[in-house]
Amino acid sequence: MLWGASLLLSLGTLSLAGVIPRDTSAPEINAVLEERQDGACTNGPNTRSCWSSGFSISTDFDAKAPPAGTTVTYNLEITNTTANPDGNGARPAMLINGQYPGPVIRASWGDTLVINVKNSLQDNGTGIHWHGIRQLNSCQHDGVPGITECPIAPGKTRQYVFKATQFGTSWYHSHWSAQYGEGVVGTLIIDGPATANYDIDLGTLPIADWYYKPAFELNEQSLHSVTGPPTADNILVNGMHKNAKGGGSYYKINVKKGKKYRIRIINTSVDAMFHVAMDGHPFTVITSDFVPIKPYVTSQLGINIGQRYDVIINANQTAGNYWFRVGYGTACSNNNILTSNIQLGAILHYTDTGVPDAEPTTSGVTLKTDCDDETNLTPFVPNTVPSSIISAPGELDLNHNIDAAQNNLFTWTIDGSTQRVNWNTPSLKTILGGGTDFGNNSNVHEMATKDNWYLWYIQTVTFIPLPHPIHLHGHDFYVLGKGSGTWDKSTAGLTLNNPTRRDVATLPAGGYLLLAFPADNPGIWVMHCHIAWHASQGLSVQFLERRGEVQGGSVGSTSEFNKGCTEWNDYWKPGNHPYEQTDSGI
Ligand code: C2O
Repeated sequence: MLWGASLLLSLGTLSLAGVIPRDTSAPEINAVLEERQDGACTNGPNTRSCWSSGFSISTDFDAKAPPAGTTVTYNLEITNTTANPDGNGARPAMLINGQYPGPVIRASWGDTLVINVKNSLQDNGTGIHWHGIRQLNSCQHDGVPGITECPIAPGKTRQYVFKATQFGTSWYHSHWSAQYGEGVVGTLIIDGPATANYDIDLGTLPIADWYYKPAFELNEQSLHSVTGPPTADNILVNGMHKNAKGGGSYYKINVKKGKKYRIRIINTSVDAMFHVAMDGHPFTVITSDFVPIKPYVTSQLGINIGQRYDVIINANQTAGNYWFRVGYGTACSNNNILTSNIQLGAILHYTDTGVPDAEPTTSGVTLKTDCDDETNLTPFVPNTVPSSIISAPGELDLNHNIDAAQNNLFTWTIDGSTQRVNWNTPSLKTILGGGTDFGNNSNVHEMATKDNWYLWYIQTVTFIPLPHPIHLHGHDFYVLGKGSGTWDKSTAGLTLNNPTRRDVATLPAGGYLLLAFPADNPGIWVMHCHIAWHASQGLSVQFLERRGEVQGGSVGSTSEFNKGCTEWNDYWKPGNHPYEQTDSGI
């Protein structure tokens, strides 16, 4: 009787509180509990699935308009300066607001972001892309010079305006040639619900390769090299690291024993694939890119360029110092720092009293060296891709070309043509003017039917067996399958029922990659390899989605777009270029 009464009492308490307290050490159980919630509850350490009235982690954020938000404004200014992030010595750099990485842009799900970007560079155009942001009906704010805008001319400012229809972690970067390798990079957080609980959000943890020579100089080498791109010199974790000579310092992640922490890991590299692990602290993974997933626990993660993983760690070990280890995907890239004895990574430091601030002596897992994607990524809100699309796939054949007449210019080709955008005449300008000739803005594929699903598959044809991190703008894609060799056009081995959904997936070396997404966002969207050297060598295609609606005004007022082109065309006049466009332009 007593037992029955206390059960009734606890049930009564639960329904009064409206919140079920749960054990965060069992993510699988949390996920089940959280699936049932889609109503008014308050987001907090034990209720991360909640957001606000009618919105929660169970909301299908592609199908439903986001919560009403406020307007969040940022001002970014890009200048020529120098940077010395690892103590090796100052090198010329291009930075945002004088810092590397640039300021963290932070807003909440449903907010409107207004970001004024001033180009104070001496003699470069620029354009900032908000990586992974869907840009629903706002394609002209996607920030891709030669595709969705004319570059921002020196001395000029462009205002980007877009709504945060998704939530989670991402980054922003220049999309003008190889410019982000010069340092024009920052991170971005959209606060929202989560698929597992944590106490404290530690914010973004960008990891990048770092070169001692200017990116534009290396880009020129890479464009005319038949042996592949130049080797990086170091890595940076949140903009710092030790160098090969022992100078510089490690980034420190400060925690307190007994708390659970969310860490937002981002690979912002030019060329590097990483593997990461934290000694003694396994990761509970809760997102892949901007997509909440069913939480799973792993001792290490592989992360390719542009990808993000939000993880939760439990600071439940003996208070001390632990390595956050970063390993290289040496199967596809290399770094001079690997020949030194320097540990790659950062330090997890317990700030509990008595813990000295020192380099760890902990040991951990052996990191993998491959360049493959994680495979455990199940979206929290399920989706099914119609199997009918398998019968009409759009094939994109990846090859390469070496042009002896242009000093062995190396380009990647898709179906025989390489991308070379025209900064004066972006694809969007052609579309708005009703044109159909995109010139060397190559491989424009139409997706004409509203909300229709389309399947695209990239098939490696070239004999150069390299993996490529493929990134799509304007959408998450659904990864139906991948493999080595040639796709046999059968459904065997493909996932149609709740496949992995994200905005960067890796094409296996010498293989194929099948990507599906619906035509639910009118605009012109680029899909490219996110290795900066490869994007410069033309490895990209464009999807023109619902042309009639784009022409009919679905992208909103084009006054900022037109102003940008007038200013650029004043600066970059035919016969009066301060320098030449030697690469794809993006
Ligand atoms: Cu990170 Cu085309 O973008």
